[in-house]
Amino acid sequence: MDMATINDSLDNVIGRVERAEFLDRPADALANLVGTWLKPGPVKNLLSGTGTGHPAHPILILLPLGSWASAFFLDFVGGKDDGTATAARRLIVIGNLSALPTALTGLSDWADTQGAERRVGFVHAALNVTALGIFTASAAARATGARKVGVLTAALGMGLVSASGWLGGHLAYARGVGTDTTAFEVAPTDWTDVAALDEVTDKPMCVDAGRVAVLLVRHDGELRAMSDRCTHRGGPLHEGTIVDGCVECPWHGSRFRLSDGQIDRGPATRPQRGFEVRVLEGRVQVRPVADPGSLRSEPVTGSAGTKERAS
Ligand code: FES
Repeated sequence: MDMATINDSLDNVIGRVERAEFLDRPADALANLVGTWLKPGPVKNLLSGTGTGHPAHPILILLPLGSWASAFFLDFVGGKDDGTATAARRLIVIGNLSALPTALTGLSDWADTQGAERRVGFVHAALNVTALGIFTASAAARATGARKVGVLTAALGMGLVSASGWLGGHLAYARGVGTDTTAFEVAPTDWTDVAALDEVTDKPMCVDAGRVAVLLVRHDGELRAMSDRCTHRGGPLHEGTIVDGCVECPWHGSRFRLSDGQIDRGPATRPQRGFEVRVLEGRVQVRPVADPGSLRSEPVTGSAGTKERAS
């Protein structure tokens, strides 16, 4: 089987999951429940990874997956002595315990998704919960001396978490869950005229700065601008509210400081891209703060394969 055929088959599988509307009912019910209990604030910040600059879930995954995988390899290449059996059993238990906080971070991230992403995330979670049950059974079997059962169940659990990991990879790398949604935004590096000065009030407005939507607002006598697309899941910030010198996203409640775009409250983990503002002859102009990211400074645009520098 060649690479294209494998890729095509996997795409087929994921496409079916992404379009499986029958998943919406249970998935939406669970997401609503999570949303009811987990409001924006310190706990949501912690589970999101807001203070670390990246989502917490992909980091925590290392603990259960690393422990389970180590036990799996010990089972098959570590020999049959008691020391190896004890080490494998302890690793399974560590994996099971660390799966709980890891699951909470994933649940928090997942509850903020919609549509295809929510369906894939639901299946990802279901596989993980099943795998955790199997690893728990493996630990119990090992504790009672039934090592063979423990080994076989752990192997089954590894198969399930591998499939689940592939779905998680699809969410992050193909669907951009957890990725800064403005990472590919390319704004002109020169000053761009966006509005008349008297149009800008203390009510946020959205202006077009050469293919990039920019939030523009007057606050405490200063003109402020930042990317309008929320870095979390792309919410339109100009539809949000101004609270304590911040704009609050209308979708999941992240707050970004108007002065510099930094995060005041999650679930966002990345700050908003800032724009400088100046007034020239009654017109407001904006210019993005310099960013060394290659996809922003050397984007691929226009016809396929044409690479242009941002002008
Ligand atoms: S899109 Fe989620 S907080 Fe803005």
